[in-house]
Amino acid sequence: MKNRNVIITGANSGIGKSAAQIFAYAGYTVVIACRNLEKGEKALQEIVAASNNKAVHLMQVDMSSLASISQFCAAYKEQFDKLDILINNAGYFNHGEGRRLSADGIEITFATNVVGPFLLTELLKNELKKSDDPRVLNASSNIIKHYFSPKKNIDLDNISGNPSVGYKHSVYANYRDSKMAFLMLSFKMAEEYRELGIAVNSLQINGARMSNETLRKFAPHWRIIARIQNLFFPPTEFVGNNYFELCTSDDFANKTGKQFNHKLKSMRKGPENPKPNHIWGSQVYPVYATNKSVQERIWNLCFDLTKKHLNSDTYSEDVQSHELVAFA
Ligand SMILES: NC(=O)c1ccc[n+]([C@@H]2O[C@H](COP(=O)([O-])OP(=O)(O)OC[C@H]3O[C@@H](n4cnc5c(N)ncnc54)[C@H](OP(=O)(O)O)[C@@H]3O)[C@@H](O)[C@H]2O)c1
Repeated sequence: MKNRNVIITGANSGIGKSAAQIFAYAGYTVVIACRNLEKGEKALQEIVAASNNKAVHLMQVDMSSLASISQFCAAYKEQFDKLDILINNAGYFNHGEGRRLSADGIEITFATNVVGPFLLTELLKNELKKSDDPRVLNASSNIIKHYFSPKKNIDLDNISGNPSVGYKHSVYANYRDSKMAFLMLSFKMAEEYRELGIAVNSLQINGARMSNETLRKFAPHWRIIARIQNLFFPPTEFVGNNYFELCTSDDFANKTGKQFNHKLKSMRKGPENPKPNHIWGSQVYPVYATNKSVQERIWNLCFDLTKKHLNSDTYSEDVQSHELVAFA
């Protein structure tokens, strides 16, 4: 196999770590992008030992911090000459805390799960363009099924700063909104990057066994629910393997703007009036995800919140110089 580079965020545990191990075993150059270097170092040793691949690198990034993401991208560009695969896997779903803002004043769940991946991908766009088959994969969740209800809307009015009068904090709602916003951002990103030849897809994760460390982050009542769910969830390797297939298999080459399910089938837009089989199954996603004005608003919000960190060189390159790819 020719040398291919992959970055996986949040690869010190869970699905990200399993995926890193699978890529390393297959001979890829793997960057595990972790916020905690101590945990990252431990994961690195384990991945190298299990895969016998020395081309696994640990790099620090806090996906909730715009400055940290900028530093990570600068360091990546110094060390590597291109990027083939970017997996935006890191996710914040801490059910134990009240409303918290990131260092940049953005609600922490939205900062980590939406704005961070947006900035990371934008800043690595030119590195991706250097690959002959660049693929971005975003970690989605079946929590987006809440939007089958026509009453559900993402609360985009309380993303940064002080919340408006009447705002009721809910970590669950923050996570739910962030994951729907991330899917909508993926659709918009796929459209925006189409002419650059960069594929952007998303995987709806129905569940994967959570580690004790992850469970400890939850408030006690959520921990009980998560422990019960864990009994029915597949191991993290199952999802890690899905990441690998979507990012490497020829079956998914030239596919962009798709939401895939756990069987790696491309999901369709659901009907306006979903029936129970739509809600329980994994064939369709809520029609809300295709709302162009909300997609546009999320995209613009991400640009606005990150504009100080977007390098001018990201935009100045002549996109026409890239060979156009025919996406399906
Ligand atoms: N497991 C499930 O049932 C399930 C279901 C649907 C979707 N998902 C999605 O799948 C992805 C992986 O989740 P998982 O189940 O593997 O959970 P996990 O084991 O808790 O992994 C989450 C990873 O994200 C990292 N992370 C969190 N905040 C970060 C930040 N600010 N900067 C950098 N890294 C950060 C964590 O690092 P630390 O160790 O430092 O906290 C950890 O490595 C997430 O996007 C999640 O939303 C999971």
